[in-house]
This record gives sequence, structure tokens and C-alpha cells, in this order.
Amino acid sequence: MPKKILFIYNQVVAEERKACFGECALVKDVDAIREALKESNNHILSLDLHSPLQLEEFILANHSIDLAFVIAEGFKANPHTLYNGHGAALVRRYLAKYNIPCTHSSFESMEVCRNKDLTYARLRERGIPIPQYLVFETHFINNIKCIEAQVSEIGYPVIIKPAGGGNSIGISSKSVVYNFKDLMEQVKTVQKQLGHTTLIIEKYLAGQEYTIGILGNKEKYVLPVIGFPKNLGVRDAGTKITEHTLRDKFEFITESDKRFNNLLELGVDSFEAVLANDVLRIDLKEDELGNIYVIDVNGTPALSFTGSLNFMANKAGLKHNQLVQLVLYKSMLRYGLAPNIFFDELVKGLILKLIKHESIEVA
Ligand SMILES: Nc1ncnc2c1ncn2[C@@H]1O[C@H](COP(=O)(O)OP(=O)(O)O)[C@@H](O)[C@H]1O
Ligand SMILES: [Mg+2]
Repeated sequence: MPKKILFIYNQVVAEERKACFGECALVKDVDAIREALKESNNHILSLDLHSPLQLEEFILANHSIDLAFVIAEGFKANPHTLYNGHGAALVRRYLAKYNIPCTHSSFESMEVCRNKDLTYARLRERGIPIPQYLVFETHFINNIKCIEAQVSEIGYPVIIKPAGGGNSIGISSKSVVYNFKDLMEQVKTVQKQLGHTTLIIEKYLAGQEYTIGILGNKEKYVLPVIGFPKNLGVRDAGTKITEHTLRDKFEFITESDKRFNNLLELGVDSFEAVLANDVLRIDLKEDELGNIYVIDVNGTPALSFTGSLNFMANKAGLKHNQLVQLVLYKSMLRYGLAPNIFFDELVKGLILKLIKHESIEVA
């Protein structure tokens, strides 16, 4: 029996995809995801998410929805929800009010993923290496003596990142600072851009950057791991838009590589630490000694054509539509919404090409 699936996204055209709308999806990517979802032979409804009221009216007018496929990071009419770290969880809370299950991680998990202070606290609890960091509220900018001492303890250079948001909102090459004066200048710049906010000040790691994509739940499939070119520098929003043109310079870390097991373990441990579901992309960075640290977990990794996740999926033999369908399939399985046999068979053949990782059951 086909299910009624509500696809929820924040859509913008290329010119609008900047500043606080940097996390929104391009119309062409939304269209491609919708087409892929339709191929699953379910009944797909679409909503470009603006406001809670619009969402509630849509739900009531389209009763009853079996599952929401949610890539929206918040409400476009309240742009701060797109980057303040709470939007993805908030959307899920509204859906929970109507008992509508969601793809991707739960609202509790999204809250952890979208707030780097919560992410780091959770990863640290599980013994996963993270850079040395401190949390700084811009409200308390006058309390600088205490900050100065703490940053000295971490040691320069440090990088300043907004705790909420993603897609490098509030992050640029200027985020890396070598002294306290420049640090305070950058804090003011971010505050001007985003208003009062929580910042993370952390050790700048000068080595190579990696990203790991994991699909599934208890049974996980790790996509081929990307090693970014060593000279890419801080991946700001501009770099993320254009870096796909450099893909021939990207490295794939294969099983024979001595970094492989460590990366795989860090990725899977992070997935479990944040209690992720269906899909997660984890960013990691090396220090100059080659020690690898987790720097970011992405609960709603871009499903765009040019995004890292699709690049990894393509390497594993999955086309873009199959990647989208796999996320949907994993979610439907989790909720016991039996997918049709054709779809099941299609995916079964494909996942064999990925690296399978069975999680060990914790008693
Ligand atoms: N500790 C760090 N050391 C060096 N570079 C970093 C560090 N943290 C982040 N970066 C750079 O900034 C980019 C964006 O930071 P990230 O934490 O992934 O935030 P976002 O959620 O915006 O993707 C990273 O891809 C990386 O290039
Ligand atoms: Mg990141």
C-alpha cells in the first residue's frame, strides 16, 4: 500500500541562498529529491516551509500523513530558526504534535547535532576526540579577562564558530585568529551578522579535513570516506558552493589506508553518540601530528547534486535518486511502514556495494 509522505523543505533560488538562508535548498535540488521520492511509488505531498501556522494548516488539510521526509532546517518566515540551532528540532516538534513520524534524526538528536556546544558535550561524554574548546555567549562580551585566560590555555591559533547553524554560517578564513585582539574583532563581526549568539572558540587544527556519510540505523552503511585537499583551508560557504569543481583532487580513504579504521570508528561512534537516525554526515579534522578530531555532525546533510553526500554515494555506485530513496527506505523500515517489494529489491542490490557496519548491541 503506498504511503502518504509529506516532503518538507526550505527552498530558495541561487541568488537568495546566502547569509541566513545559506542552509536552504536550491529549487533544482528540491525538484530532484521530489522526483526521487515519487519513484518510490508512494504518494508525495510537498511543502516549502514558511511558518508553523502554514505547517499546521497543511497537516489538517491533508489528514492523515504517514511520514514526513524533512530536510527543512526551520521556518523561512522566522529566518533565525534556520541558523539558531533550534529550527530542525522545532519542525519535528510540530509534526510530533500530530503524531507524524519523521525521516532523519529525532528532535532531541537534531537539537544535539545543530548546537555545537551540545554536540561536543555529547561526543566528549562518549570519549570521542574533539578539539579543545570553550563556549562563549556574546551577551557576556564584557567579561573578557576570563575569556582571555581560557583561550590562552587552549593556545592560538583558535577558530571561532557560531554554536548553532551550519553550512559555515558565520565562518570564514577570518574566523581563524592568532591573538586576543583579533579574536574580539571576529566575535563582534559574528555578533553583527547573527545578533547575540553562543559561540564556540576552539583549537584550530591545521591538518587534513575528512567527511564521513553514514546511512541506516542499527544496521549502518558507511559511504566511501572523503579526504579533502590539504590546501582547501577553512571551508566557508563560498568554498562549499564551488569545491565540487575540484573533485578530481579529493581523496577517497579506502580500506587499505591506515587511517580507514580510525575514521570508520569515529564516524560510527559519533552516529551512535548523538542517537542519529537514517543518515548523518560527520566532519573531522587532523592536527599537525595526524590526530583526528570530530568537528561537526550534520543531522540533515545536504542531499543536493553537488553535496559531499551525493559525491560519496556516487562513488559507492548509488545515483542521486537512489541515495534519496535509501534514506526514505531506512526511515520507513524503522517505523514499520513496509516498503513495496520492488523498492525493497532495488535497494537490497545496491547496499551491498557500501561498507556494512553492524552496531554492537548495548545491553
Ligand atoms: N577546529 C577547526 N580547525 C580547523 N578548521 C576548522 C575547525 N572547525 C571548523 N573548521 C573549518 O570550518 C568549516 C566549517 O566548520 P564546521 O564546524 O564544519 O561548521 P558547519 O556546521 O558550518 O559546517 C569546516 O569544514 C572546516 O574547514
Ligand atoms: Mg561542517
